Amino acid sequence: MKIFIDSANIEEIREINDLGFLAGVTTNPTLVAKEKGDFHQLVRQICDIVDGPVNAEPLGVSFNEMINEGQALANLHPNVVVKIPLCEDGLRAIRYLSQLGIKTNATLVFSANQALLAARAGASYISPFVGRLDDAGNDGLHVLAEIVNILDQYAVNTEIIAASIRHPMHVTEAAKIGAHIATIPYKVIKAMIRHPLTDLGIEKFVEDGKKLLG
Ligand code: G3P
Repeated sequence: MKIFIDSANIEEIREINDLGFLAGVTTNPTLVAKEKGDFHQLVRQICDIVDGPVNAEPLGVSFNEMINEGQALANLHPNVVVKIPLCEDGLRAIRYLSQLGIKTNATLVFSANQALLAARAGASYISPFVGRLDDAGNDGLHVLAEIVNILDQYAVNTEIIAASIRHPMHVTEAAKIGAHIATIPYKVIKAMIRHPLTDLGIEKFVEDGKKLLG
């Protein structure tokens, strides 16, 4: 499973990218609204930092807005993937953009049927929102597993991104299920790295190393 960061913050993205495992970035209008400056400029900056897909979402939600803004976003950099919400206009926009050779990520996916339709419309990526399903009293990981299982049975060229990840166990479970990618917030990535036994072990090795040096 590849690791993406779910963030539009340049410092967070740069710090995590430097750790060596980052394969891509997802943003959404909520994440972008937390940052200063021009949206397109921010997307360009992220593309300059990370060598992998950078997901950016049009701000309009009508078919015309999504295809026009989607093309403008795709023109910013070859690594841009256009995020499109799963609705009727969204499916049409996914088809339209994919026929132009523009990669799309069907976002706000909450069911296996939505995922199947997005894959058939030509989405390059599909993002089931695991945490938000849990919040609504559903089992987000179960829906993720259904989607992986269904799409695995057909020659669909679509990668599944476990999104709306809230804690490290979501990541472990998404990897066990076979999601192609997990897009993970900065704080959760930091929590994945640390373990108290690793910290204690490092402390002890440093202490004993000092004894060796005299
Ligand atoms: O990028 C989309 C998704 O990961 C949002 O997560 O935490 O707002 O449900 P969250």
